[in-house]
Amino acid sequence: MLNTDHREADAVRERIATELIAARERTAGLTALDDHDLTAQHSPLMSPLVWDLAHIGNQEELWLLRNVGGREPMRPEIDPLYDAFEHPRAERPKLPLLPPKEAHAYAHEVRGRVLDLLATTPLDGELPLVRDGFAFGMIIQHEQQHDETMLITHQLRKGQGALTAPPPPVTATGPLPTEVLVPGGPFTMGTDTEPWSLDNERPAHQVEVSAFHLDTTPVSNGAYQQFIADGGYDDPRWWTAEGWAHRQQAGLFAPLFWSRDGGQWLRRRFGTVEPVPADEPVLHVSWYEADAYARWAGRRLPTEAEWEKAARQDPATGRSRRYPWGDQEPTAELANLGQRHLQPAPVGSYPEGESPHGVRQLMGDVWEWTASDFTPYPGFRAWPYQEYSEVFFGPEYKVLRGGCFAAAPVASRGTFRNWDYPIRRQIFAGFRTARDGEAG
Ligand code: AVJ
Ligand code: FE
Repeated sequence: MLNTDHREADAVRERIATELIAARERTAGLTALDDHDLTAQHSPLMSPLVWDLAHIGNQEELWLLRNVGGREPMRPEIDPLYDAFEHPRAERPKLPLLPPKEAHAYAHEVRGRVLDLLATTPLDGELPLVRDGFAFGMIIQHEQQHDETMLITHQLRKGQGALTAPPPPVTATGPLPTEVLVPGGPFTMGTDTEPWSLDNERPAHQVEVSAFHLDTTPVSNGAYQQFIADGGYDDPRWWTAEGWAHRQQAGLFAPLFWSRDGGQWLRRRFGTVEPVPADEPVLHVSWYEADAYARWAGRRLPTEAEWEKAARQDPATGRSRRYPWGDQEPTAELANLGQRHLQPAPVGSYPEGESPHGVRQLMGDVWEWTASDFTPYPGFRAWPYQEYSEVFFGPEYKVLRGGCFAAAPVASRGTFRNWDYPIRRQIFAGFRTARDGEAG
């Protein structure tokens, strides 16, 4: 019915407007620094913050104003500067970037025109790019993903931290079993129906997953310290050949941002040095370190399919849900997402967000390294551009799942796939471990 369709389209439009504003507030907070801090190279691994800011505006102009709206480019001469494939991050500080004031003005100008476009674009129409508001949802997620990237830059930045947030609420309940058994059998991985899912989450497909045991929580700093104390970093038995070579060459001895003070481990977190809290999920470890820890513990990393089955399958019906707790959107009670807090909550937190299999903190807190390479699902189609996912498929990248305290709810789903090189440690990544279930 036409009326219902209109009402649905209005609801989508309202959600888009709300999410656009939320993303921009986040961006504003992360770029409220002086010009020196915005243009400096805080790490060769990262762009200057002022690049992220104008790149957010440029992608929004490209996808919404030009591709959806059919408008002419506003400043065609700046496009190559903000094309992520033209210049690697380390080179970006030397480019003739828009200065902070201009970058802010450009992003603001684009946004004003986008809000006008939103009011007049039919979202229930024929155009696949805007069906269910997809292009708007993609751009909202893009800005939020860069907001996470910018938070990583803040973490790498030297000196007094520029951001504050309250610690996560205390929600951990009594002792939990350390692991649960997820029974073997088929489950539906990926999605055909999640309206703002990105191309690599599609299509939905059946996978056969054998029985396995999975940690009920991410691995804690305390557990990880035992690996260190047991000489885990000095024992090649626990490391893959590549991992060991990297550990040697990079001189790894503990997670990134950790230092030793007498008998105590300290960490630097957004400019503050503090004792490492034993009950928090370990953060800032590479895939190689996660994999070595798992081997040391007599276990392994879960595959991506195992992770998603534990997170989404409802054992009562066999149906795959949107999130571990069901289909409803994340709230502050369900998961630590969205930079509401600037650290993960202690392991065992968020009982309300538990999956039916009894697994906690699958969404939020820390990204979780999986054993899997980033590969396309059977029937994958690049959409709407090959450079979002397709060019990254292959064995060089490992998949991370579940979002983290820095990732926005709108860019976190049971099907959402993140990926990075196995040496990367500046991302907000930890892990949990698994082992095979009993055969037969
Ligand atoms: C999905 C987080 C790997 O930051 O490289 C941002 C997201 N893509 N701009 C990235 C992305 C284009 C992407 N990750
Ligand atoms: Fe981008």
